[in-house]
Amino acid sequence: MSWTVIGALILLSSQAFAEDLEGRFTGGADVQFVPGFVATILPLGLVTNNTEFCGGVLINSSLVLTVASCMFGSNAAIISAGFRTDNLVAEIATGQISYMTQIYYHPDFMRNTHINDIAIIRVYPPFNITSTVYPINLPKGSNVRGDAIGKNWQLTWFSFGNFNQTTMPDTMQSVEFTYLPTKNCTSIYAKKPYWYTLQKTLFCMAPSQTVGICPGDAGSPVIAVDKKTNKPFLVGLANRDTDDRCPVTPTATNKHTPDLFVRIDPFFKWIQSMGGPKSQ
Ligand SMILES: *[C@@H]1O[C@H](CO)[C@@H](O)[C@H](O)[C@H]1NC(C)=O
Ligand SMILES: *[C@@H]1O[C@H](CO)[C@@H](O)[C@H](O)[C@H]1NC(C)=O
Ligand SMILES: *[C@@H]1O[C@H](CO)[C@@H](O)[C@H](O)[C@H]1NC(C)=O
Ligand SMILES: *[C@@H]1O[C@H](CO)[C@@H](O)[C@H](O)[C@H]1NC(C)=O
Ligand SMILES: *[C@@H]1O[C@H](CO)[C@@H](O)[C@H](O)[C@H]1NC(C)=O
Repeated sequence: MSWTVIGALILLSSQAFAEDLEGRFTGGADVQFVPGFVATILPLGLVTNNTEFCGGVLINSSLVLTVASCMFGSNAAIISAGFRTDNLVAEIATGQISYMTQIYYHPDFMRNTHINDIAIIRVYPPFNITSTVYPINLPKGSNVRGDAIGKNWQLTWFSFGNFNQTTMPDTMQSVEFTYLPTKNCTSIYAKKPYWYTLQKTLFCMAPSQTVGICPGDAGSPVIAVDKKTNKPFLVGLANRDTDDRCPVTPTATNKHTPDLFVRIDPFFKWIQSMGGPKSQ
């Protein structure tokens, strides 16, 4: 992500999630408390040369949801949750670390086209559910179908990904997510140089000079907060930056294309069949 402009400063507590989703404009966007469902994944393995982190989200004490393309080729991974900063020594009291034992790629995942780009990682030992490490709810389909994602909810995106191509943040970042309606996004991608039909399983972020998908962001969660229960629920996972610009150069804005996010609602049945939460 790149965060010159701030989105939300998130003050998380289980009772008062929604009230605290207030925007702030400070030049930084560090999260003040740990959003306990955000997982950071370090893929390892012989097949891959991954040097990047992936983001993910806890949906169960032993299941982490992420994008398939970020994990592809890895046969092992270290997964952490509950860390606000990269200072493991200081944060060990709130954070937990676990390990991938299995990965389930979506059966219709296509690596080259990123179709159905979603995967579930089983971890061992299971995460212990605490006030700083906890699973997130999944969305009710009707609430987030089509452009309802952008119309009905204020969205927030969390990540430990890079600010730009070169610099890692040392604190987890959050930003208010600006949704781009599907029609607009489809028409941008239908043209040169993309000639790409936007898949129904994706949604788009409005192009911006300051916020975008950068290395390490793939799989990091976009959430909304249920107005009745005040509980956060997952709507999407960062997928990819098709122009590979990771908004480093403001002058290139007019050339930016919308970054793509995987929707969660089309995959609810699959997630459920893999042992995810039973009710939405
Ligand atoms: C990984 O890196 C090594 C050393 O740079 C290289 O020989 C190997 O081909 C790479 N493997 C893949 C799958 O890219
Ligand atoms: C959860 O608690 C058990 C028992 O204390 C411990 O063995 C396990 O490592 C913990 N899980 C994680 C992910 O830290
Ligand atoms: C990347 O972001 C960091 C932190 O905002 C900044 O200090 C650095 O100059 C940026 N690098 C580039 C190449 O834009
Ligand atoms: C989406 O497209 C409509 C119609 O072309 C346009 O009026 C509107 O400003 C666009 N919205 C965004 C966010 O680009
Ligand atoms: C997590 O999923 C497993 C099945 O994979 C299930 O046995 C377990 O009860 C679930 N845990 C919670 C807290 O829902």
